This record gives sequence, structure tokens and C-alpha cells, in this order.
Amino acid sequence: MIDAFTYRNGALHAEDVPLARIVELAGTPTYVYSATAMTARLKALQAAFAGQRVRFFYAMKANDHLAVLRTLSNAGAGVEIVSGGELARALAAGVAPGDILFAGVGKTRDELAEALAAGIAQFNVESVPELRALNEVALGQGRQAPVALRINPDVAARTHAKISTGSYGDKFGIAHDEAADALALAWSLPGIRVAGLHLHIGSQITDAGPLTEAYARLVDLARLFAEKGRRLERLDFGGGFGVRYQKGQASIDLAALAAQVRRLTEGLDVEIAFEPGRFLVAEAGALLARVVYVKENAGRRFAILDAGMNDLVRPAMYDARHEIVPLREPDASDAHGRVDVVGPVCESADIFGRDRILAGVQAGDAVALTGAGAYGAVMTSTYNARPKAAEVMVRGDACTVIRPRQEREAMWADERLPEWLDAR
Ligand code: LLP
Repeated sequence: MIDAFTYRNGALHAEDVPLARIVELAGTPTYVYSATAMTARLKALQAAFAGQRVRFFYAMKANDHLAVLRTLSNAGAGVEIVSGGELARALAAGVAPGDILFAGVGKTRDELAEALAAGIAQFNVESVPELRALNEVALGQGRQAPVALRINPDVAARTHAKISTGSYGDKFGIAHDEAADALALAWSLPGIRVAGLHLHIGSQITDAGPLTEAYARLVDLARLFAEKGRRLERLDFGGGFGVRYQKGQASIDLAALAAQVRRLTEGLDVEIAFEPGRFLVAEAGALLARVVYVKENAGRRFAILDAGMNDLVRPAMYDARHEIVPLREPDASDAHGRVDVVGPVCESADIFGRDRILAGVQAGDAVALTGAGAYGAVMTSTYNARPKAAEVMVRGDACTVIRPRQEREAMWADERLPEWLDAR
């Protein structure tokens, strides 16, 4: 696997492009992505599971830019969607309907109808009411909907509480204990074709233990039904593969995971699906920002960036730690100069990191927040009337602005003033 961002001749590069050049081209704050790094991550997954019947469906919620979707779909990934908006986006990026899985706990009838008419590969149904609704929608269209039931296996993901989804008490899926009844119902509904089972226990999981424990529960169900002559075509094991947000941190051990999956599914004639999001794009992206001021306050040093929590919300929302590195390679001997790196937004939570080592950082310097390719740009807002950041994609020495910085006026262009407001 390649590192998307490396120092060369003292300057931080994305592939062959110096980040300083991107700052010149697009200003700050700007997201930059390495297309080669994304493709390499997908290839690493494909290689780890070579010889097994496995398909990867990119969870586009991680980064839904058309160029990212096109990069991964050109490299052989399908796409996992969670809304009608994501369906339209995926289709706009050129993804074939037959390569799309639809997950999500609250799909509306309109969304179900739209996806069914488009001919997507599979609905991951999360409840009995949703199953009945889909059956009715399908009968109305004179079709059968291919369905995988999402099971809540009641396995704790041992990750951050806000990104854990596979325990009883979480809103997701059908309780493992109630799965047999739900499946029996699914088989009895004429508008439903049972394709398989699905689960997803959480995100940023670096320990394969909880994952394989959950997979085993799904496999047990599949074996149980196979014995009764009810064959399932596909087991969808969801996403959740953890990445390295800091150097030296563990990421998921793919070889070990693939070996476990092979062992678990031995003799079971099923296709395995995975829905990785973060794994494919997180390390392939960075957020570039400029230091506006360095200020001392009651004994602490603050570096105030022109990027804020509206641009990258993960630190404020999940206590996430993203590395913050200068574009000029720091001198190894200079490990002093700890600063609190913060954004300009009027919220105390607008902090990217406390006590970070940013040797000699000065106003005007540009820095990169790494690991920002997943759940970065997609989670931005225009809070404090801050336009959405620009986005740039790099491959080799090619470098293109794939979204210009939002124009200020665009932030209110769709707002309307009631005509009676100024009337007396
Ligand atoms: N499949 C389903 C059904 C999901 O709900 C998710 C993520 C994925 C796949 C992809 O998970 P991944 O491979 O990316 O871990 N905003 C949070 C993460 C939320 C994840 C939501 N579901 C963050 O920034 O950490």
C-alpha cells in the first residue's frame, strides 16, 4: 500500500504534487485526495480476499464526491447507499444499478420505489415494517425486491460509542433472536426475494475479534437455514475496517481477517459482500489549512487555523485525533513548540488538537490535517456562514480542482424573503 502524503525534498507531497502548489491553486481550506491511494486500498482488499467469492461495495457516505465514486467504481467496487440522494449521486457518477446495495434504517416508500425501479442489486432491510412496505412497493411495480435482512448480532464493536451499531439497544437491524421469524416472513411475501443476510457492527474497528464474532453469528444462521433447504446467496458483512489516523497506530489486519472469513464460510456456497467506507478513502485525503494567528493566552499557545469544525467535524464530534503536519518538513531536533490547534468558529468545541508539536509554527504557514478523506468533506456545513471548502484530486503529477470553493452568495441563493416581511 502506498502513503498518499510524503515529504520529498523537504516538502509535503500528494503523490507527485507539492501541497504548497495546491494551496496556491485552490487556497485554503481545501481538501486534497490521492486517487492512486484510494485505488491501492481497494486493490489491497481484493488481494487479501483473492480466491474467495468476495465483492466490495464502497460505503459512499464516507466521501460521495463524483470523482471519488468514479475512481473506485472504475477500479471494480460496487457502491453501498443509504438514501435516495446517494442513489441519484451514484447513478450520476456512472455506477451501474446492479452494483448498488441500499442500506439504512429509515428508507421511505418513495426511496424504496425509486431504487426498485432503477434495478439495484439488493435492499438491506432493517425491520419488519420496512419489509412489509417494500413488499407492497414491489407488488405495486409488479416486481420482486432482492432483500438481505440486516441482523443486529448483539456484538459490541469496542470502538467509539457514537459509531457503534451492532448491540441490542442500537437502532439498527433486526435482533438476532428475532431473525428466524423475520426471515420466515420474508420468504412468505410475494414481493420479496430473499437474497441473504447483512450486518454492520460499527466503524473504525481495528481489532478483528468483534468482527469475526459477528460474522460467525450470521454464518450460523445461514447454515441453519441451509439445513432446512433455504439457501442464501449472499452474506453482507458490512464495513467498519479501521485505519491508522496516526503513524504507528494499528489498522485492521487484512490477512488475518481474510483467513478467518475463509474458515468461517468453508463449505457454504455464498458470495461475501463487504461495505468498506473509511478504509478506502480516509488515508487518501487531507485538509489543507493556513494558520491565521499564533496567540499566547494565560500560558498556552494557540495556532488558529482558517479551517474549522464546520470543515472537519470529527475532532469535535468523536474526539477524533487527526495528525496536523506542516507542509515544510520539520527539523527532527526541534520537538518543542507545543500548540493547541483550533479553528475560527465561535464554539469551544472547535479544537483540532491540544499540545500538538508544530515546530516554529507561524502565522501564514500552511498545514495539513491528515486522514481526512473519509467523513470529512461530506460532513461539512456552512455554520458561521463559512463557505464549503474547495476539493482537489491528484493522480501522479495530475492535479485538478474537483470542486471550487463555494461562492459566498451560493450560501443564501436558495433562501426566500416572504413578501409580507417589510409590509406594515
Ligand atoms: N455499512 C453501513 C451499513 C454503515 O452504516 C457504514 C457506516 C458503513 C458500511 C461504512 O463504515 P466504515 O467502513 O466507513 O467504517 N462519521 C463517523 C462514521 C460513521 C459511520 C456510519 N456508518 C466518523 O467520522 O467516524
